[in-house]
Amino acid sequence: MAKLTVSDLDLKGKKVLMRVDFNVPIKDGVIGNDNRIVAALPTIKYVSEHGGKAILLSHLGRIKKEDDKPGLSMRPVAERLSNLLNKPVTFVPTTEGSQLEDAIDGLSDGDVLVMENTRYEDVKNGEYVKRESGNDPELGKYWASLGDVFVNDAFGTAHRSHASNVGIASNMGQTAAGFLMEKEIKFIGGAVDNPEHPFVAILGGAKVSDKIGVIDNLLAKADKILIGGGMTYTFYAAKGMKIGNSLVEKDKIDLAKEILDKAGDKLVLPTDSVVAEKFDNDAAHKTVDGDIPDGYMALDIGPKSVAEFEDVLKSAKTVVWNGPMGVFEMSNYAEGTLEIGKFLGTLTEAKTIVGGGDSTAAVQQLGVADKLSHISTGGGASLEYLEGKTLPGIAAISDK
Ligand code: 3PG
Repeated sequence: MAKLTVSDLDLKGKKVLMRVDFNVPIKDGVIGNDNRIVAALPTIKYVSEHGGKAILLSHLGRIKKEDDKPGLSMRPVAERLSNLLNKPVTFVPTTEGSQLEDAIDGLSDGDVLVMENTRYEDVKNGEYVKRESGNDPELGKYWASLGDVFVNDAFGTAHRSHASNVGIASNMGQTAAGFLMEKEIKFIGGAVDNPEHPFVAILGGAKVSDKIGVIDNLLAKADKILIGGGMTYTFYAAKGMKIGNSLVEKDKIDLAKEILDKAGDKLVLPTDSVVAEKFDNDAAHKTVDGDIPDGYMALDIGPKSVAEFEDVLKSAKTVVWNGPMGVFEMSNYAEGTLEIGKFLGTLTEAKTIVGGGDSTAAVQQLGVADKLSHISTGGGASLEYLEGKTLPGIAAISDK
């Protein structure tokens, strides 16, 4: 059933609690990548332009002790948001109490407020009490009491059942999805539940164990699953091929065998690899077919595999891509990932959905991000969604 969205709400003059996922990379107060803040702007602007008083809650990093707090303050995020919105944003350096309540009472229609990192509540008086991430019922109730309506736009946090998403929702009559959440549900949920065929998944990354749930779920739904990245060589080992010094999860070889048996020709492995003598961008490297020679490790898929993958992809109507094809952060082993990203940009007839840090970085570096249907802001959330799991943050949003 369709979910209630922010555009279904009457916002004028309302205190609009908004859960966003502003969990951005941050070091010494400097934000490394503001994609998640940018992705939440449409909903924040909509609330503000429709006369709502936007009260933004987000976590940032993980807080387990008092010392973690100063480096994970939401202040720089509020400043970046203010720059992006080109208007003042009130930052409140606390997560409860009269300073926060007075600041909310002082808001005018259209104003935007960011409160301190919700995970500050995980540590109280030096103790790791997990009030936020343990979904303390009193905390969810308190935060809910600060607003009139609740909008959840934090897809990246949807796999968590925390006080600031599920806890608030359970204390509000209704919870609406923001536009970002709506888009993530439409594209990732759509691909999992009702894909247009041929549906091709491209799964990369180092470990089979990270993607096993996704492979399992998508085997039943996709027409082809293209495998790349380090996990390829656990599959090679399962097939009895030579893997040289390549990455392998020895304890997952049997599992990889089971997957190969179950998948038949649905699972497509790379047929050639770029191999190097060391895990080093400047190491001597070459391309080999099939087996990985002794003394070498495979660090990228080769050009033949790229062409074979493109051949499968060219007729796809739905494509989901998660995980790099090689060691993307080293320029000599980034080609496979970049070529796949470039090719996805040409698939104008297909729904193309990309998730995961390296795959997203690749399409952004290539400048093809705007040619794709959807770039997910979720890490763990998109993977669990692709695994077919019910995400508590989404389940807590009201049906239309
Ligand atoms: C993420 O970055 O995946 C989300 O913001 C969730 O963060 P967490 O894994 O710390 O709960």
